[in-house]
Amino acid sequence: MRQTILVTGATGTVGREVIKQLAMQDVNVRAGVHSVIKGENLKRLPGVEIVEIDFRDPNSLHAAFTHVDGLVLITPLSEDQLEMARNLVEEAKRQDVKHIVKLSALGAGAEPGIQLGRWHREMETYVEESGIPYTILRPAGFMQNLVNYSANSIKGEGKFYMPVGEGKVSYIDTRDIAAVVVEVLLSEEHMGKVYELTGPEALSHHEMATLLGEATGKKVDFVDVPEEAAREAIKSHRTPASITDALLELYAAYKAGKSAKVSNTVQEVTGRPPHSFRQFAQDYQECF
Ligand SMILES: NC(=O)c1ccc[n+]([C@@H]2O[C@H](COP(=O)([O-])OP(=O)(O)OC[C@H]3O[C@@H](n4cnc5c(N)ncnc54)[C@H](OP(=O)(O)O)[C@@H]3O)[C@@H](O)[C@H]2O)c1
Repeated sequence: MRQTILVTGATGTVGREVIKQLAMQDVNVRAGVHSVIKGENLKRLPGVEIVEIDFRDPNSLHAAFTHVDGLVLITPLSEDQLEMARNLVEEAKRQDVKHIVKLSALGAGAEPGIQLGRWHREMETYVEESGIPYTILRPAGFMQNLVNYSANSIKGEGKFYMPVGEGKVSYIDTRDIAAVVVEVLLSEEHMGKVYELTGPEALSHHEMATLLGEATGKKVDFVDVPEEAAREAIKSHRTPASITDALLELYAAYKAGKSAKVSNTVQEVTGRPPHSFRQFAQDYQECF
């Protein structure tokens, strides 16, 4: 019988790529969407069913989890993400889900690490203690963050701004994270494993700017900004203080070169090398 896989956060950066790649497999895909309107274009993919869920409302989870074999657990970066993850894992336990693939973050295993990692580590423990077989994926920062957060300034001014100095980061393309999700879901050999996922190399943001310039044929500059300027910019989006502090702590780690580790896991799990930043810049050049 075809497995049914529920993907939460299905309209997000990783979730929609996971849905796209899972739709090409012999499985029933259930896209858990918060906003049905945002989920509209997922409906066109073969074998994809849309369900509306609100992680904050345990009652909304029951129908979404019915007859689910595998769960791709993606929660947003929010103040109540721990409660959201707890609600999802509790429902998975109630409905006898057979495998959870949890999207975590690189550094979740570090001690003391940084706040973003500690939040993920706490969520990982809910999954580990659930009794359900699991696979934990800890990706580096996403290359697609540039599309989500810097495309406007790159398009408008040919610049992007971050408080990260010369620190090199091993950013990963979310298409590779999705490819790993698909692979680990379809085989039992990855159960109980924790995988750190990175791109193929660590680059400075100046090097990334050069590659974006080459791909777009326009001049692109990276501008290192003081932490306080970054704080004001993040706050202007009404970001809660705890999340703002956590993001600035992450950028400080980038600046200190603590996020430059490169792993070979994408290649090992999928049999294909991860996308380089050069390739990403070419594939997404229209966004910039
Ligand atoms: N960005 C990075 O560089 C990075 C690196 C490593 C790990 N991570 C981790 O990756 C995860 C985020 O992945 P992402 O970037 O793919 O997420 P994302 O793009 O922020 O998407 C979050 C998804 O969650 C949904 N959502 C929000 N509130 C919800 C609720 N109450 N009920 C149901 N769904 C809800 C959103 O739907 P709506 O938009 O409709 O609300 C959206 O589909 C986080 O755990 C983050 O810590 C991120």
